[in-house]
Amino acid sequence: MDKFVVQGGRRIAGSVAVSGAKNAALPIMAAVIASQGETVLENVPDLVDVRTLSALLRTLGVMVTPAADGQVRLQVVDPGACVADYQLVRQMRASICVLGPLLGRRGKACVSLPGGCNIGTRPIDLHLKGLAALGAEIEVRNGYVLASARRLRGAAIHLGGSRGSTVTGTCNVMSAAALAQGTTIITAAACEPEVVALADFLNAMGARIAGQGTPRLEIEGVECLQGTRCRIIPDRIEAATLLIAGAMTQGQVELQDVRPEHLTAVLELLAEIGCQIEIQADQKTAAVQTLKLSAGGPLHPLDVTALPYPGIPTDVQAQLMALACTIPGASVIRDQVFPDRFMHVAELGRMGARIRQQESTAVVSGECRLTGANVMASDLRASAALVLAALAAEGETTIRRIYHLDRGYAALEQKLNALGAHVTRLPDQWGTGHSPVPEWTSPGQQRKSA
Ligand code: EPU
Repeated sequence: MDKFVVQGGRRIAGSVAVSGAKNAALPIMAAVIASQGETVLENVPDLVDVRTLSALLRTLGVMVTPAADGQVRLQVVDPGACVADYQLVRQMRASICVLGPLLGRRGKACVSLPGGCNIGTRPIDLHLKGLAALGAEIEVRNGYVLASARRLRGAAIHLGGSRGSTVTGTCNVMSAAALAQGTTIITAAACEPEVVALADFLNAMGARIAGQGTPRLEIEGVECLQGTRCRIIPDRIEAATLLIAGAMTQGQVELQDVRPEHLTAVLELLAEIGCQIEIQADQKTAAVQTLKLSAGGPLHPLDVTALPYPGIPTDVQAQLMALACTIPGASVIRDQVFPDRFMHVAELGRMGARIRQQESTAVVSGECRLTGANVMASDLRASAALVLAALAAEGETTIRRIYHLDRGYAALEQKLNALGAHVTRLPDQWGTGHSPVPEWTSPGQQRKSA
């Protein structure tokens, strides 16, 4: 297990390329189960979650061959297996993405229930409701979802829940419906770019899906899907995290390989609070763009609510909270997607943050001074928030349980260091961690030195 040691107080400035999106790569890799022939994916990020899914796919008869430069070749070689085992599923909740493709193609799926995690209870009732509407018989027994159907039939399915739609639920139902007999209409479908990327991928394999990017999907079932070639879209959450690093350190960050249109809400927010944002299209390929953030002057407090796309993503809520800690005044941050996703509050508090949280709302008082401390990552985006806070803090911060970060950020420390940060990855040996005791100074002295 590794830890990060971060020397804070350095300005983040320079240019880096953004990696492929984890949350696009995972459902696309899982959808290969529903196809025949070889698929070649490009720009697949090198992440623990991608490796975990690769291991799961191999147990499900998919040959997964990673090559250099983020290319991964996948092909079904044994279409018989249909059990997604607890040992692998428990390591990564997104393993549930194999349910729809297994059922659609193999008519049978036995997938361990992923259970909750540090960001909330995370039920899958909408996934199951959608698959049942397609005619699957579904039972939950001994911690597994057992689903079967001779041939799925198209249906009208409403995927809205009390928290809006479901991203991986839409992916599962869409993948299964792609091979169903007849037409499926999904309403309240998730509109996230990663869902659009999966729909485009399925279409490239021969599916007939229309309406992606809107809440209404129309899916004409086809007999089979053929392997294809696909480039994974850039990771909008990694991009947002790097931009926030620039904003927090009065820096200047240029991102290559980004899709600014996937970041509209975040860019508008950063501009509103006082950052300068510049988007440049490549002269040759309009699709390739660079995005520049400069933060020179004082920033204004935030008032944000994390919402389903195209709102501010819940996956940047924690990072925005770290940013709010550096802005004088009171910021208000709410999360309507995962109302319990506030594990980072206490750890940010260890670094001097002043945050009051009640239910799904946090009020951050930016009149504080972040100082280095020993902190613990609790989940993927909380880890990113701690890294950001450490960059802006005075002194040294040690962040333990960095494996959470490795699940979803490809070489984040290398990217940050290329931008001028000082982040060192070290093996962590529990019990030998020395927690420096601060020198005692009176509150008056502290105020003078601040
Ligand atoms: N929900 C239900 N019932 C369901 C499914 C979801 O009530 O059957 C609720 C959830 O409890 C939550 C809300 O609906 O309150 C949204 O959950 P959703 O299903 O959309 O989340 P997910 O598909 O499990 C994906 C991402 C998450 C991201 C969310 C929201 C992947 C692999 N995961 O999760 O990413 O936070 O959508 O955008 O795509 C991350 O990358 O750090 C991460 C957690």
